[in-house]
Amino acid sequence: MDWGMKNRLSKIIKPKDGHTVMLAVDHGYFMGPTTGLENLGAMVNPLLRYADTLMLTRGALRNYIAPEVDIPIVLRVSGGTSIVGKELLHEGTVVSIEDAIRLNASGVAYSILVGAEFERDTLLGMTQYIDEAERYGIPVLAVTAVGRDMVKDAKYLSLASRMAAELGATIVKTYFCPGFEKVVDSCPVPIVIAGGKKTPEKEALQMAYDAIQAGAIGVDMGRNIFQSENPVGMMKAVQVIVHKKATAKEAFDIFNEKK
Ligand code: R5P
Repeated sequence: MDWGMKNRLSKIIKPKDGHTVMLAVDHGYFMGPTTGLENLGAMVNPLLRYADTLMLTRGALRNYIAPEVDIPIVLRVSGGTSIVGKELLHEGTVVSIEDAIRLNASGVAYSILVGAEFERDTLLGMTQYIDEAERYGIPVLAVTAVGRDMVKDAKYLSLASRMAAELGATIVKTYFCPGFEKVVDSCPVPIVIAGGKKTPEKEALQMAYDAIQAGAIGVDMGRNIFQSENPVGMMKAVQVIVHKKATAKEAFDIFNEKK
């Protein structure tokens, strides 16, 4: 791994403990004005001091985040479909590597859909992007997307995560599931978990804790933070689970402080 790749990776994954809290607010690229992100800047800017990395689209970055803000960016570079279209996860490249560099991205995120009709297109799209990103030393986060009717179990998520790693992804983002150790143990690159749909805060924190215990290096969480009644409290709570070895209960107590 070259110096630039290592340097960018160290901005995403904190070298002091090898963990990361990624704040995911890229949802607008296929969901439009998602609840909680109608004014993305107003929601996200107060949360940044508790995040290690911000994952978002180039349009959100340019329009809602000031260039002076000191937060490493993981830029979403795949997309092209919507929640109202017929091919939700048939994504392709939507941002060139040059624009990712121009925006000073520390990493890029590309979704793949294993086991669905457009599997091949998404896998080839990601691998082509990896070839370009590696030319410039930019890490690629593979997002293992899951279709509406697909089962998010350890067997499937192990398959998708291992494939992403073997195809060259630097980090894999997947979903938490029972038996998550199997997913982590069979994937040779670091894994972060997505938060998924909004659930009660206590459950979301338990999931984050269980994922870290199972070997995930962090979370890339969105809706369970920005759709919470207390987004700052959730950021603080997730932060102590990921970086301070807090239990889910300790984290929930922090969430409840000054609610
Ligand atoms: C989905 O493809 C997006 O990349 C989201 O960023 C990701 O799902 C994480 O957000 P959430 O925690 O809301 O699931």
